[in-house]
Amino acid sequence: MILKKTIIEKVDPIRPQKSVITRAAKIINSGGLVVFPTETVYGLGANALDPVASQSIFTAKNRPPDNPLIVHISNKLELDEYILEKPKFSELLIDRYWPGPLTLIFRKSPIIPNIVTAGTKYVAIRVPNHPVALALIKESGVPIAAPSANLSGRPSPTTAQHSIQDLYGRVDMILDSGPTDIGLESTVLNLLEKKPSILRPGGITREDIFETISVRPTLGYLKSESSSEKVISPGTKHPHYHPKAKVILLDIKNIESLEIELAKQILIYRQLKKSIGILGFEHSKLKVDMEILLDKDYNKIARSLFDSFRRFDDKKIDVILIPRMSSKQIGLAITDRITRAASQIIKVI
Ligand code: TXA
Ligand code: MG
Repeated sequence: MILKKTIIEKVDPIRPQKSVITRAAKIINSGGLVVFPTETVYGLGANALDPVASQSIFTAKNRPPDNPLIVHISNKLELDEYILEKPKFSELLIDRYWPGPLTLIFRKSPIIPNIVTAGTKYVAIRVPNHPVALALIKESGVPIAAPSANLSGRPSPTTAQHSIQDLYGRVDMILDSGPTDIGLESTVLNLLEKKPSILRPGGITREDIFETISVRPTLGYLKSESSSEKVISPGTKHPHYHPKAKVILLDIKNIESLEIELAKQILIYRQLKKSIGILGFEHSKLKVDMEILLDKDYNKIARSLFDSFRRFDDKKIDVILIPRMSSKQIGLAITDRITRAASQIIKVI
């Protein structure tokens, strides 16, 4: 692809400077690409009503064309323009969690281009909870289609530096408001079938949803209206969140068994002359090349997970060993991202 001149601008995350937002909005309105912060991860935004601009998102991040984009709006009142109807439970959830890290799937209105929804009849929409994102959408006057602002297959960006690493020269502007708050992407929830189902766990937890609608969502994929079992959340089928290193998840509850297995893996990879990293709760008893300690607070683990992946890559670590974590609350999303990043899962019961 032809390289673009990328402007990088710092923006105050609480009171975004009007002059910067105006420039960014002009780029959106002229069909360009702007990387902007949200409360989850940085997004790679384009005018969602412009099929050519939306297409250029796919090119910039090498995204497979069958993986649809999330449309970001600034206010729940705008929703009706872009959808055919509101499914059961959606209003309860919208009132409680928008703006916030909850993406809902709707039947799309014809105004949403097919490229955005990867040819499906469904559109994913959320209102992000970040002053910069909201100011940009409002100033542009259009909904903004935005996947995470990383190259396809790389960990999602939680700082502007991560996006610069992946997308410099591929986008028109990168807005830098510092690290994002949640650090993992929004929850994608499908309310269009009999049972609500989580297509991607994220910032709003399964427990939060249950508390609001009194129905426990399943963890699953959507089927399309056709009789074939076509998945309509295609993002989940593509490989995701890979650091360059090989990630090994040690799915072991018992602490002693975990230590034995860790030691075994360290010996194996040391013999193979590989550099070894551990992302764990305790310091390792055996020497490894790089260690990042996990916080006891799962919200902090979520915030730093993708950054940790990239830090291991920066130090050219070949293998990252990670112990299993709880799947409660935000732990479900953390475990999901680690599982997707893992090329091997070692289970000891
Ligand atoms: O937190 C987030 O959601 C971030 C920020 C930028 O908002 N965005 C993000 O977008 O993570 P992306 O494109 O990296 O992930 C979107 C996910 C994919 O798994 C995709 O398949 C799914 O949402 N998705 C999008 N549109 C869909 C649709 N119409 N039906 C089912 N799944 C959809
Ligand atoms: Mg993504």
